[in-house]
Amino acid sequence: MRELKPNVYAVGAIDWDRRLFDELIPLPDGTSYNAYLIKGSEKTALLDTVDPAKADVLIDNLVEVGIDRIDYVVAHHGEQDHSGSIPDILMLYPDAKVVTNAKCKGMLIDLLNIADDKFVTIEDGQTLSLGDKTLQFVYIPWVHWPETMGTYLQEDKILFPCDFFGSHLATSSLFVDDEAVVYEAAKRYYAEIMMPFRGQIIKNLEKIQVLEIEMIAPSHGPVYDKPEFIINAYQDWISDRVKNEVVLPYVSMHDSTRKMVEHFVDALIERGITVRQFKLSATDIGKLAISLVDAATIVVGSPTVLAGAHPMAAYAAILANALRPKTKFASIIGSYGWGGRMVEQLTGLLSNLKVELLEPVAAKGCPKDDDFTALDKLADQILARHKELGIAD
Ligand code: FEO
Repeated sequence: MRELKPNVYAVGAIDWDRRLFDELIPLPDGTSYNAYLIKGSEKTALLDTVDPAKADVLIDNLVEVGIDRIDYVVAHHGEQDHSGSIPDILMLYPDAKVVTNAKCKGMLIDLLNIADDKFVTIEDGQTLSLGDKTLQFVYIPWVHWPETMGTYLQEDKILFPCDFFGSHLATSSLFVDDEAVVYEAAKRYYAEIMMPFRGQIIKNLEKIQVLEIEMIAPSHGPVYDKPEFIINAYQDWISDRVKNEVVLPYVSMHDSTRKMVEHFVDALIERGITVRQFKLSATDIGKLAISLVDAATIVVGSPTVLAGAHPMAAYAAILANALRPKTKFASIIGSYGWGGRMVEQLTGLLSNLKVELLEPVAAKGCPKDDDFTALDKLADQILARHKELGIAD
């Protein structure tokens, strides 16, 4: 248990050892499930709970604060890493009501079997008095589920935005103490969780900026006591600006595609273009996701196997397609033995991206002079497009 401000406590759990989220997302630095307790002069509210695996930590923290009554459990989000311990809290504090919006209420009934009469349903902008402290609810849909909302604690000027602005980072510091470390973790989190909903994030960012905010206390990672740090970072990530960068996830079986990748990377570097190359058989997909936040171009490298793209290349394409980065250009490079539909398959898998597809390069067997010339032309084309955007010299 730690105190953000008088009578505002962090009572969540640090999960130092977790290495995978949703059985998909790597957590190189663990994570935390942040819950906050607000003691007003008349009522006490708990904002979110923790992942069920850490319910005992939450309960110990509540005991440490020394409260014998919780009046409200505010549920910002239905996902179980925050809502999953609500049933435990309702058992311990049977008079507590779950405060949330109608959509989240439906999800909590579906996911956790919470009884209908346990809920108090609120609307966007509504306030709830705890006596000397006032909670104001702010709908922030699609960060990253449709029901998500935040709470603004008016008197203390703290915004609790749930997953929005979060970072998967286990740290003993309550507040951000190393901006470079938190920037990387928050960008990873944005890339993996928020980027597909960039349009909604833009609207939500505008919405919360009318509030006077001294602290942002998200549901993962440290609390921002200098909110402009993370707000400025988000404004950069959600902007339409892209950078003079090519992201190049690739896989190679017998070195033909690898030789093409090496030549192509050299060609891009010679043209002053930043390259981020990822060997998919040994890649942290979070790093790949981070690189997609800003890059102007993605090029996928794949051999042909079983008449199509290598499954690892297909996985990268599906991932990029789902994350919907603001990338402007795409292409495919790779090799084949006697035929197949590798290029068509990968192109199809990138259909969500609003990109111009630049002429792919597919080599028959080991790449020859013609193939290297085609790769040079692709690099020329990328440079020309980046110049048109005003991001390359
Ligand atoms: Fe951290 Fe969407 O739950």
